[in-house]
Amino acid sequence: MTDREAPDPAPSPVTAASLLRRMRAATVLAGPLPPFDPATAGPAPGPLFAEWLAYALDDGVLEPHVMTLSTVAADGRPSARVLMLRGVDLERCAFVFASEAGSRKGLELAANPQAALTSYWPRHGRQIRMAGPVRALDADAARSDFLGRRERSRIAGFTGLMSAPLDGPEAYEEERRLASARVAAEPEAVPQGHTVYELTATEAEFFQGDTGGFHRRLRYTREADGGWSRGLLFP
Ligand SMILES: Cc1cc2nc3c(=O)[nH]c(=O)nc-3n(C[C@H](O)[C@H](O)[C@H](O)COP(=O)(O)O)c2cc1C
Repeated sequence: MTDREAPDPAPSPVTAASLLRRMRAATVLAGPLPPFDPATAGPAPGPLFAEWLAYALDDGVLEPHVMTLSTVAADGRPSARVLMLRGVDLERCAFVFASEAGSRKGLELAANPQAALTSYWPRHGRQIRMAGPVRALDADAARSDFLGRRERSRIAGFTGLMSAPLDGPEAYEEERRLASARVAAEPEAVPQGHTVYELTATEAEFFQGDTGGFHRRLRYTREADGGWSRGLLFP
C-alpha cells in the first residue's frame, strides 16, 4: 500500500486530442535540477553511476534501481522492458540483473548477447545509458539470488514460464497453487531457468537536463586496453 490515491478517472472521454493537450501542458525537466559539470567527472563511468544512483536513493526517488533493459532478437527486432538492478561492480562497470532464461529477453540474450540498460530519474532530469555484452553467471549465482528472495517472489518464479502465453485467470491460479505447494515442500528449490545476468558496459552516457535547456551529455567509450575515453555530445 502507498499513501497515494489512484487518480480519479478522467471526467470526459479520453481522445488523442485531449491527450495531446494534456501532454503539452505537462512540464518536462521542470526542476529544480541538480548541477552537473562534466569537467569534474572521473576517468571511468562507474563512480559517476554510483554517485547519481546514491543521489536518487538519498532523495527518496521511487524505485531508482528500476532500469529499462533493451535486447535485440537474432532477426534484428528490438524489445525493451523494465527490471530491477540487483548488483553493480563499479570498478568493471558491470550491472547485474536476474530473469528467466526461457523468457523473451532470455532467448534474445542467448541469440544476441548484447544489450542496453537505461535509467531515468525525472526528478533529477538525469538519464544514464549503458550498453555492452551480457553473460549469464553460474548456477551458484542464480541459486543465491533466488533463495535470497521473499517467498512471494519465489512462488512467482515457479508460476508458469515467464513470457509464455497464458490461457486465462484459471490457468494462472492453478499454476500459482502448484508453485505455492512446491515452494512450501521444497524451500531450497530454484527454477531451472532462473538466471543472473551481467552486462559489462562498453559505452556509458550521462544526460543531465537543465531547466534553461542547457543540457549536458557525457559519453564514455571503452577502449581496447580496457581503459575509457570520454567526450561531450550535443544534446
Ligand atoms: C517495477 C518492475 C520491476 C521488474 N523487475 C523485473 C526483474 O527484476 N526481472 C525480470 O525478469 N522481470 C522484471 N519485471 C517484469 C519485466 O518488465 C517483464 O514483464 C518480464 O521480465 C518479461 O519480459 P520479456 O517477455 O521481455 O522477457 C519487472 C517489472 C516491473 C514493472
